[in-house]
Amino acid sequence: MAEAFNDITLSADKAARYRELALEVASVLEGEPNLTARMATVVSMLANSFDHFFWTGFYVVDADRPDELVVGPYQGTLGCLRIAFGRGVCGAAAATGQTQRVEDVHAFPGHIACDSRSQSEIVAPVRDRTGRLIAVFDVDSDQPAAFDAVDQAGIEAILHQTFAA
Ligand code: SME
Repeated sequence: MAEAFNDITLSADKAARYRELALEVASVLEGEPNLTARMATVVSMLANSFDHFFWTGFYVVDADRPDELVVGPYQGTLGCLRIAFGRGVCGAAAATGQTQRVEDVHAFPGHIACDSRSQSEIVAPVRDRTGRLIAVFDVDSDQPAAFDAVDQAGIEAILHQTFAA
C-alpha cells in the first residue's frame, strides 16, 4: 500500500516537473527560430532535470539522405553518428512515426548499443508544424524500465510545443 502510494506521489511530482519544464523551455526559446538552438536547449534542460536521463539527444532526418538519421545535439557519452530508418529503437520510431518505450533494450531486436550501460530507452518522433518528421528524440537510462507513461506524455508535449506549434 505504502509502495503504491509512493509510486503515485512520485508520478504526480514527475508530471508536475514536466509541466514546469514545458513553461521554462518555452520562456527560454521565445523568439528563437534556429532549430539547432532549440534542440540543444531542450536537451540541456531535460538532461539536467531528471536523474534517470543517462543519454539525451536528437537524431535528425538527414536532408541529403532522407532514409537516414544523423546525430544532432546531445548530452551523454559518445553516440553513433548515423542510424538507418528501421534500425534499432531510433530507426523504429522514425519508420513508424510512433513513440517507442523500451523497458529492456537488450531484448529489442536490432538495438544499437552506443553505450553498454544503457538499459532502457524512450524515443519519440519530432514533427514540424506541417506534420513532417524532422528528427527523433532519444533518451537512454542506465536503469531498467526507467520510463513510464508520464515521461512519454511529458516528452511528447515539450516536443510538440517546441517544434510543431
Ligand atoms: N539506442 C539507440 C541508438 C542511439 S544511442 O543509444 C545514443 C537505438 O537503438 O536506436
